[in-house]
Amino acid sequence: MRNIVSLNLQKSINMNNNENNNEKYLDQTLRPDNWSDYIGQETIKKNLKILLTAAMGREEPPEHLLFYGPAGLGKTTLAHLITKEIGAQMKSTSGPAIERVGDLASILTNLSPRDILFIDEAHRLNKMIEEVLYPAMESGVLDIIIGKGPSARTIQLDLPPFTLIAATTRISLLSSPLRSRFSGGTFRLEFYTEEEIQRIVERSAKILGTEIAPGAATEIAKRSRSTPRTANHLLKRCRDYAQVHGSGKVDFDSAIKALELLVTANDRRILEILIEKFNGGPVGLQTLAASASEEEETIGEVCEPYLLQLGFIERTPRGRIATPRAYEHLGKTPPNHQLNI
Ligand code: ADE
Repeated sequence: MRNIVSLNLQKSINMNNNENNNEKYLDQTLRPDNWSDYIGQETIKKNLKILLTAAMGREEPPEHLLFYGPAGLGKTTLAHLITKEIGAQMKSTSGPAIERVGDLASILTNLSPRDILFIDEAHRLNKMIEEVLYPAMESGVLDIIIGKGPSARTIQLDLPPFTLIAATTRISLLSSPLRSRFSGGTFRLEFYTEEEIQRIVERSAKILGTEIAPGAATEIAKRSRSTPRTANHLLKRCRDYAQVHGSGKVDFDSAIKALELLVTANDRRILEILIEKFNGGPVGLQTLAASASEEEETIGEVCEPYLLQLGFIERTPRGRIATPRAYEHLGKTPPNHQLNI
């Protein structure tokens, strides 16, 4: 039994020893580790600071928190900052890693008092796991059913006081009983402004030891999908380009050349398929994904939020449609039926 529990725990909890992949390592290096370095999301930061200061004043763990919003906006980073602020330890896992009730039971019973339990991709928790989470979040207990059928009985284990921080890109897929148990609050992360992304790029360049011209940082910001993760990815590729083709400094010209090689070719391709194959839509996500030979998730979570934000597509009950602005962007004339969107 003991072995099973520890095996499950190893499988479900990210102990950070499998993250030796260079890109991930660099991303962690770029992650801000104090509030003053965390640029943007000002309202969330203000709310969290009040919540954390109040909880620490009462010598209690903060209440459970839910962060949602598109990928790459800093949900995990916020969980790390909260953990550091209250001087706790973070145990990190994800919805799909918790396959069985036993996995969650071993995670919860192995927490130390005041630990932060971070569950990423919380929308992928299955219903049985969610049901074990409810009493754990609400009353700090774990209900374990022993035996089967009429002789089954429930025993209740007290859990150490802990704070659950869950993150999701798809809040609507979380059941409403689960959503309602985040008593500390549910926070929606917003896309970043161009000016905020430019500051993030300049900060990251400093950490990487790369000189960057302000104009180059602006160009990266413009193509970043308003997302720090994408901005940092573009910065690293611009740094590579400058190293191979230039002096190593990311100046305006080398940044433009590197970005032209990289960026938004896929978004453009999706728009072209929507316009050329489907006459601008409406078309369902599944059909669009199949035509583009992409996974639905890639279109729905990577391309679409950005295209929506740029006003190039709209979501309607009948599917996605290209807006007149998308036609204009591709140098095409919108058909008459699209002009009144
Ligand atoms: N890197 C990723 N997200 C960031 C943020 N919000 N502020 C500063 N650097 C970041």
